[in-house]
Amino acid sequence: MEQIKIDFKGIGEFVSKEEIQKFAGKTKQTNRALHDKSGLGNDFLGWVNLPNEIDNLNEIKETAKSIQKLADYVVVIGIGGSYLGAKAVIDALSGNFEQSSGSKIIYAGHNIGEDYLFELINYLQDKNWAITVISKSGTTTEPAIAFRILKNELEKKYGKQNAGERIVAITDAQKGALRQLADKEGYKTFIIPDDVGGRYSVLTPVGLLPIAIAGFDIDELVKGARFMFGKINEGVDYENNIAAQYAAARNALYNKGKTTEILVNYNPKLHFIAEWWKQLYGESEGKENKGIFPASVDFTTDLHSMGQYIQEGLRNIFETVISVKSPDFELKVPEDEENLDKLNYLAGKRIDEINKMAELGTSIAHIDGGVPNIRIELPKINEFYIGQLIYFFEKACGISGYLLDVNPFNQPGVEAYKKNMFALLEKPGFEKETEEIKKRIKG
Ligand code: PA5
Repeated sequence: MEQIKIDFKGIGEFVSKEEIQKFAGKTKQTNRALHDKSGLGNDFLGWVNLPNEIDNLNEIKETAKSIQKLADYVVVIGIGGSYLGAKAVIDALSGNFEQSSGSKIIYAGHNIGEDYLFELINYLQDKNWAITVISKSGTTTEPAIAFRILKNELEKKYGKQNAGERIVAITDAQKGALRQLADKEGYKTFIIPDDVGGRYSVLTPVGLLPIAIAGFDIDELVKGARFMFGKINEGVDYENNIAAQYAAARNALYNKGKTTEILVNYNPKLHFIAEWWKQLYGESEGKENKGIFPASVDFTTDLHSMGQYIQEGLRNIFETVISVKSPDFELKVPEDEENLDKLNYLAGKRIDEINKMAELGTSIAHIDGGVPNIRIELPKINEFYIGQLIYFFEKACGISGYLLDVNPFNQPGVEAYKKNMFALLEKPGFEKETEEIKKRIKG
């Protein structure tokens, strides 16, 4: 079984071995702290052993099958960690223009767009559909609003009793409004473990159920994560441990003023892997006035928009490129007799070869322009390698957060906007905050 690879040659001229060693030396201890739960945020380390502990895949697979039989479309309602993992994996594994298998997954509850919800209701009118609602706290405003609206629509269409059979709730075992509602209405439920935070939850039912409903092989996904677990656990030395190496490299770069990391892909299917990664790293490290800012670009598309800045803007950037070794299909540039577009020099070449030369040329140009480059290579996009990639990024994030000396498993800053929004919307219990914020906006 092949492992995803990581190459640090492109950072060699920006950080010395000694500068990396400063962090490398601490990775053993920080990795161990994740396993023996002796570090910060240790009540949220359930994800560390998850690949080895997942035991209810049959229940998830059976539920997925019965939903597939019942509904052609499934609206997955959730936000942040309760949405991005599923979306990332499903997009990576689907065709570019349509999801090739399972029930078609549509997302809601990840924004408060009135038009989005209105248009979604219209879109679903003549469709056979169901809902999977995901919220760990069970009280998040965005998914709660979407669920209230879509549940009404589902009940209008199928009647209360039958609609209930089309709803699956994934939430806390005991707490929260969604748990209460699900118990009262008798929905099928799955539990989000207490000790797994949203952004680390893709290998729980939060990610696995939607991925299975979409028709993908969750056994292989978990197998990939488990394989990676064996390659980067606390017992594996730094020299062979790619998570420890990535964590040390990014901290060394950060210490040299490289405060923005751009995750780059050359395959549009990976766009949402980057969105998931941004949440993982941004929420885990961005606190106490510290942390690398995680950004992302889709190349070569964004070379025509962000390329200028990356090449010549503020030199606080480094790049981590995800490169896919083998595409699924083969397509070559055809010969053209007239050659008016002057492309005959490419005739007979595979599109992927051109893409790879764009990647190589860009990396060299960016290194020349002062942008260090880390390269992760996926042999191909399938469940097994995506499973590896997910667990690799999660583990490296835990180690990296500890190297930065923050708690990578809390997100206190997420509450600030909620407090203001509740105050502005005059939510009961926020009377004092409402008074204060009204004074402030009046000036
Ligand atoms: O990582 C996190 O904790 C957040 O992004 C949450 O996942 C997000 O806010 C959704 O929370 P919940 O699942 O409680 O609705």
